[in-house]
Amino acid sequence: MNLKGKNAVITGGGRGLGKAVAIALAREGANIGLTGRNEENLKSVVSELQDLGVKAAYAVFSIDDEAQVQKGIQTLAGELGGVDILVNNAGIGDFGKLNEMPTETWEQVIKTNLFGVYYAAKAVYPYLKEAGAGDIVNVASTAGLKGGPNMSAYAASKAAVVSLSQSMMAEWRKENIRVITLTPSTIASDMSIQGGLTDGNPDKVLQPEDFAEWVRDILKMNRRALIANGSIFSTNP
Ligand SMILES: NC(=O)c1ccc[n+]([C@@H]2O[C@H](COP(=O)([O-])OP(=O)(O)OC[C@H]3O[C@@H](n4cnc5c(N)ncnc54)[C@H](OP(=O)(O)O)[C@@H]3O)[C@@H](O)[C@H]2O)c1
Repeated sequence: MNLKGKNAVITGGGRGLGKAVAIALAREGANIGLTGRNEENLKSVVSELQDLGVKAAYAVFSIDDEAQVQKGIQTLAGELGGVDILVNNAGIGDFGKLNEMPTETWEQVIKTNLFGVYYAAKAVYPYLKEAGAGDIVNVASTAGLKGGPNMSAYAASKAAVVSLSQSMMAEWRKENIRVITLTPSTIASDMSIQGGLTDGNPDKVLQPEDFAEWVRDILKMNRRALIANGSIFSTNP
């Protein structure tokens, strides 16, 4: 499928995996709407994307606030002229022992990672329905397939994203909307390096660009083909 002229909204597009996906899709000619909280990062990525010759815009809002998400997505859809693709990527990784992590932190991980995906998908759905086609990529994690120590909030949030995404797929595929659930393993980014999951060594560990190429190629498949879910790992970390 040709992505040229498609409008893609990428949550958490100012850095990390979201930024890499934005650049990969813009290189295919897609227009990009970025969301995030850090305006400086968003501005700088928008200017990088415009240099690639596509339309690019950003909206600053917190993904855990439904009213802000609705308003921000509406603004981006207006600036781009609709939405064809949503990459539900914004997320946080707070790690720590279940009995030591403050309840507020635990709740915030769930609010950001689970409710954020739900709010953004709900906000984008009317545009995809109107277009008669669309794609939603929900970024979960291998942590959502199996919990482990020091990651109870993160793993629970991502397990819930996997489940939400499967329900979304079952309901919306009838409307020509492909919902794709991705469960990547560790990729070098602020989250994984600050969380002590990797040193980010590019000779060993997945980089955001690897993830972005994967997302790009999944989206480019003929519309009759839906990659419902998938994992990506470093070969020999
Ligand atoms: N890196 C990995 O190893 C890995 C593995 C599996 C899955 N994932 C998932 O991949 C996604 C991207 O992660 P990353 O590694 O790129 O992390 P990152 O570098 O820490 O970036 C996180 C992104 O999410 C945005 N974000 C966080 N909280 C937000 C909030 N409340 N409102 C709006 N935006 C918010 C940030 O935007 P601002 O900076 O503008 O706030 C940033 O763009 C996450 O869902 C993560 O769980 C990552």
